[in-house]
Amino acid sequence: MALEDYQTYRSVPELAGLCSMDRAVKSDWSLSESVERLRRIHFTLRRVHEVLTAKITAEPIYELKTAFSLHAYVCAEQVTLIRKRVSEMREPPLGLEKEPCAALARLLEEVDSTPSTLELLIGIYQVVLPGVLRACQRIQDEAHPLADSPTIRIAKLMEFELEELVEFGHKAIDCLREEKSEVDDLSWCSDLRLILGIAGDVDGCDPERKGHDAELPPRRYEENVNQYNSEPRRDERFIDSFNAGVNPEAFLYDDRFAPRDKTLMMYYKRIRELDVPEMMASILVDLREDEPWGFHMEMSRQLWDEARHAMMGEVGFASLGIDWASIPINFTWSRNLNLQLDARERHGVLFFIEQGLMPRSGKRYEWEVANESGDPLAALFQDFDWADEVLHAQIGRRWYVPRYQNLKDALGYGDRCWSKVLSHWRADLESGLTQHQNWWPDLYQKACELWNQEPDPNAMQFSETYEHCRADLEQLD
Ligand SMILES: [Fe+2]
Ligand SMILES: [Fe+2]
Repeated sequence: MALEDYQTYRSVPELAGLCSMDRAVKSDWSLSESVERLRRIHFTLRRVHEVLTAKITAEPIYELKTAFSLHAYVCAEQVTLIRKRVSEMREPPLGLEKEPCAALARLLEEVDSTPSTLELLIGIYQVVLPGVLRACQRIQDEAHPLADSPTIRIAKLMEFELEELVEFGHKAIDCLREEKSEVDDLSWCSDLRLILGIAGDVDGCDPERKGHDAELPPRRYEENVNQYNSEPRRDERFIDSFNAGVNPEAFLYDDRFAPRDKTLMMYYKRIRELDVPEMMASILVDLREDEPWGFHMEMSRQLWDEARHAMMGEVGFASLGIDWASIPINFTWSRNLNLQLDARERHGVLFFIEQGLMPRSGKRYEWEVANESGDPLAALFQDFDWADEVLHAQIGRRWYVPRYQNLKDALGYGDRCWSKVLSHWRADLESGLTQHQNWWPDLYQKACELWNQEPDPNAMQFSETYEHCRADLEQLD
């Protein structure tokens, strides 16, 4: 029977709808081709994950900090998908830790080395990720639709997700580009595209490839010139970042105050969580070589959740009509941890705090207060915040606790590490970095006007600081 006469039952589409019989009989694909292309995409996405993660702490622009948190996480999920697929096709060792192509490695090094945010954005979103998109499209066009259907499936998913990242990047570049630097941008972009061309594109399949023996252009930046900076930076909308003159936990856990008033402190606590990604990024950078991929995958998810929590606070204030830039958003937690502790110690502090959020006084309490407050958005956010924290406590039990004898030891270590962090509360005051001004009454007054409500005189007078207190209300010595 000729192929064109091939019939299915009452013409129901053949082959589970994957492709036509005409296509399915073609044999121009192989398992090793599939593995090879996935290895190159894996390498690229893993490097993008590393590069973006390492920029989170010191990138000042809030919208980029949070976007890098999401995009690094998306890359991590895709890396995990690829690792799983390759492990279905090959016995270990899977060869995923090896560098598949010198030119591709060089491209990512160049992007990593630039000290310019705009050049970083151009490198990631105009050169590298569009190359990954093309690689995903070619897999969909060229892989055998039946035999390699699982690879085609992940290529589709990756393309679908990455398109959003690239779109964000292009818009951000348009917003941040400055007229005078345009010519340099173009030569930067064309240099990177030249390197990508020498690599034969991300998947090595560019039909116009220049070939591996073509000469790479000279480096624009010295290798490792742009070392990871663990000191958090914020853009100019963030005022008085050293201000620790208001202790939101003390207000939140005080029975004298009304749930609705407490939602303000919860929105503040949420947006202040921006310092958790700033701190977690430093753990991922420092432990890059020391921990397996599973650690990086799960910690990246947690990092992204913390960036989401910060944005929930931003949205909370926006919903009330309050400009968050008028409130000092403190960053001394991430700053002190990053500058005073090593990565294991910082992880200990993170776990200790997150474990403390689980008992009745923690996330459940915040959720109950939000529900009683009459602010449905606060209730919604606290519900998801609580769910996320349950996941984070589990991630800690998987990746932090097993390093210690038992849970008690693991908690004790985190507690001790946190106790040894110097808050510099008085030093920051004396050196003039901040006045620790009590910003609460102004914020509360403004919110009461917007709520059409008389301020509670007790709440107006609230003036507890962090001078003698950690954020879990433990007294400092
Ligand atoms: Fe959080
Ligand atoms: Fe968390």
